[in-house]
Amino acid sequence: MIPAGIERILFTEEQVHLRVCEVAAQISEDYRGRDLKLVGVLKGSIFFLTQLARAITIPVKIDFLSISSFSQKRGNGLVRIAKDLDDSIEDEDVLLVEDIVDTGFTIRYLMQTLAGRGPNSMALCTLLDRTSRRIVQVPVRYRCFEIGDHFVIGCGLDYKQHYRNLGCIAVMDASVLEKNG
Ligand code: IMP
Ligand code: MG
Repeated sequence: MIPAGIERILFTEEQVHLRVCEVAAQISEDYRGRDLKLVGVLKGSIFFLTQLARAITIPVKIDFLSISSFSQKRGNGLVRIAKDLDDSIEDEDVLLVEDIVDTGFTIRYLMQTLAGRGPNSMALCTLLDRTSRRIVQVPVRYRCFEIGDHFVIGCGLDYKQHYRNLGCIAVMDASVLEKNG
């Protein structure tokens, strides 16, 4: 049954699972023999990071940070770290794990900030990439799906903190967005 507020399903749970496994296999190959740390951006990335980490076949460490934007509006470019990583990333191979890259402001800020801490390498893995709305360029090394210009929920992505636990990725009903902002 499709929950209320959803217009259509973009990727089923099965499609997400298969694609995450493909990306995990590539990461396992690329980082073999290295000191890989997955850094998740809370809260959106937790479901994706968990699925990805379990499908990766080499040893990984994980850590999390959370960010807050100074404005409620998406894409105003003002970002800061609200909860920092627990541990140092010095000399580690950091793979930043995001739910979606939209304007690019969040990731640009995080990559610049973390690069200053002396990691051995830094790259980005995102579940979704919406390049049509990009304002600042960021290097996306791994992405599961490219999507168009619609607001999506599920697999960690929320609308007003709801729908994160949906197994599929779905397009939010435009009438709900118009009514509630
Ligand atoms: P950026 O800084 O514009 O790239 O914004 C990225 C952040 O905006 C993501 O980490 C999400 O938290 C949020 N976001 C962007 N698009 C969506 C969407 O379609 N659904 C839910 N959250 C979104
Ligand atoms: Mg996010």
